[in-house]
Amino acid sequence: MSEPDLGAYERDGFLVLEGFLPPADCDALQARAAELVAAFDPGPARTVFSTRDQGHARDRYFQESGGAVRFFFEGQATDQPVPLALNKIGHALHDLDPVFDRVSRQPRLASLAHAFGFVRPLLLQSMYLFKQPRIGAEVDWHQDATYLHTRPSTVTGFWVALDDADQDNGCLMALPGAHRGPLRQRFQREGDRMVTQTLDTTPWPSVAPVALEARRGTLVVLHGLLPHASAPNHSSRARHAYALHLIDGQADYPADNWLQRPDLPLRGFA
Ligand code: FE2
Repeated sequence: MSEPDLGAYERDGFLVLEGFLPPADCDALQARAAELVAAFDPGPARTVFSTRDQGHARDRYFQESGGAVRFFFEGQATDQPVPLALNKIGHALHDLDPVFDRVSRQPRLASLAHAFGFVRPLLLQSMYLFKQPRIGAEVDWHQDATYLHTRPSTVTGFWVALDDADQDNGCLMALPGAHRGPLRQRFQREGDRMVTQTLDTTPWPSVAPVALEARRGTLVVLHGLLPHASAPNHSSRARHAYALHLIDGQADYPADNWLQRPDLPLRGFA
């Protein structure tokens, strides 16, 4: 692996590494996700995951998913069969599923975390993102540190395209350089519910968004304070992706973060 361009990352808040994940690993994650979906019985209640409608946030199914493998539906999905109706699987695939564990803890990812300055990297959260044909919803502009907060902020996303992602099927969008701004909001526990607290009302800077088009196997490193989003998938093509979020174990992890794992200690790459 060549050394990542840390200068570009510090300038932009993201770094696109083409061809990082071998095709065999992309195949393995997609095949395993399909198996998990086939074995999933949604029962009568389809738990919708939408970043706009926080009705789900009261749902323990979501609140306890940090230490589990759980399935979340698209808000628009009504008639679709389950494999075409899911928004994502989360949030501890990397610890509870052997295929996701192996791919997530491969030495090249450990080296990448080291190159980005992690001293005690911890694999905090994993998500298999479907962005389904036609109904895959947009994800609004946000900073990942809103959801996964440490003091100081250390959360970093490793986002891998498992299908070619472009502007027609809802690739990542980012505001280059805007990771140097403040954290705007926190999504946190307050008793047994979730609330979004505004910390700073500074608007997103008026820089032109860039589309991070990514061929299959491309890994995008996302700074935890970088504003990013993705458009709806209006195409007939799937846009599967795998997102892994790391924090540094040296930082303080607040007890009011939504993601708590009382029964499943966080692990690094070992
Ligand atoms: Fe994000």
